[in-house]
Amino acid sequence: MLSPRRAVIAMAPYSPPSSGRKGKLRLDFNENTVGSSPKVVEAIQRALSADGLTVYPEYFDTKPALAKFFGVTEDEFILANGTDEAIQVLVNTYVDDGQEVLTMHPSYAMYKFYAEVAGAKVRELSYRESDLSFPLETFLDAIRPETRAILIANPNNPTGTGITLEQVVAIVERASHAAVLIDEAYFEFCGVTALPLIERYPNLFVSRTFSKVFGMAAMRIGCLFSQAENVKYMHKAQSPYSVNQLAAIAARAAVEDPDYIANYVREALAARDDIYRGFERLGVPYYPSQANFVLFRLGERSIEIRDKLRERGVLVRDRSYEIAGCVRVTAGTRAQAARFLEELERLL
Ligand SMILES: Cc1ncc(COP(=O)(O)O)c(C=O)c1O
Repeated sequence: MLSPRRAVIAMAPYSPPSSGRKGKLRLDFNENTVGSSPKVVEAIQRALSADGLTVYPEYFDTKPALAKFFGVTEDEFILANGTDEAIQVLVNTYVDDGQEVLTMHPSYAMYKFYAEVAGAKVRELSYRESDLSFPLETFLDAIRPETRAILIANPNNPTGTGITLEQVVAIVERASHAAVLIDEAYFEFCGVTALPLIERYPNLFVSRTFSKVFGMAAMRIGCLFSQAENVKYMHKAQSPYSVNQLAAIAARAAVEDPDYIANYVREALAARDDIYRGFERLGVPYYPSQANFVLFRLGERSIEIRDKLRERGVLVRDRSYEIAGCVRVTAGTRAQAARFLEELERLL
């Protein structure tokens, strides 16, 4: 029996409950709940051919379109196989075995995952217990000379809470010796972005994904932005073909249909308001969110109600293992929110 690396032995297994979701109302993964723009599907269908599949991917059509959409130059970002690979590339580029990565808890599980796989020392700070807000002063005090990377989601998953650009700047300035990633997977729902700040701060990295608002989680594509010098190094640390050709074509089609996204955001924010109002009516405590999901408190019945909702065809995500009694629901359309609230009311 071969022995894996010590870092891998020490890791807790991570397996999100991602099977058996088909045909159900999927309010458990913060995905787009109505699907990608039809133009994306058409572009993939047009591009699909036996001959096309024989060729290693080329990104010369996609990169200029994405650069234009995001307002950067082509040498200021890498394409990545989702944010997940962006996190991995950043850690592999800047963090050596045994070095320190600073992140938050609870947050997106992949920060700790990739830092641990790389053999880094992970330090986690907690969101404030009272309102799950970001504890800026505590965080700034926790940045040490040995901190090599900082990984923060803005807004954060699963809390839904965000930080301001002033707070981002305070962190980036205090940690000028570290790579600071601001993961903006849910940017479109809050409108706060650190992307223009990459021009000013050579230690700032910003990620975006096509998995959420764009409705393309299955394609696995995202972007990681930073100054061109950093991007050069990240290219060195990344496989040249990690984003498949159809995903690259899909991303290009997606950014060419911005109205589709704007309409979806409007609908999801209205659905989120309906969910708030429903919780208030039902006396369910919740945390106001800056993203397309809401964390709410069911107390001791959280897992039971999650399971009963599933039996009724509605999927939500239990988070009680990290915030006692809490469950997270995705805001999709207003009709979906109404269905969720109706089923929840029945169970309470
Ligand atoms: C904060 C955050 N970042 C990134 C992701 C996933 O991104 P991707 O599908 O691009 O790997 C998620 C998904 O849940 C997330 O919550």
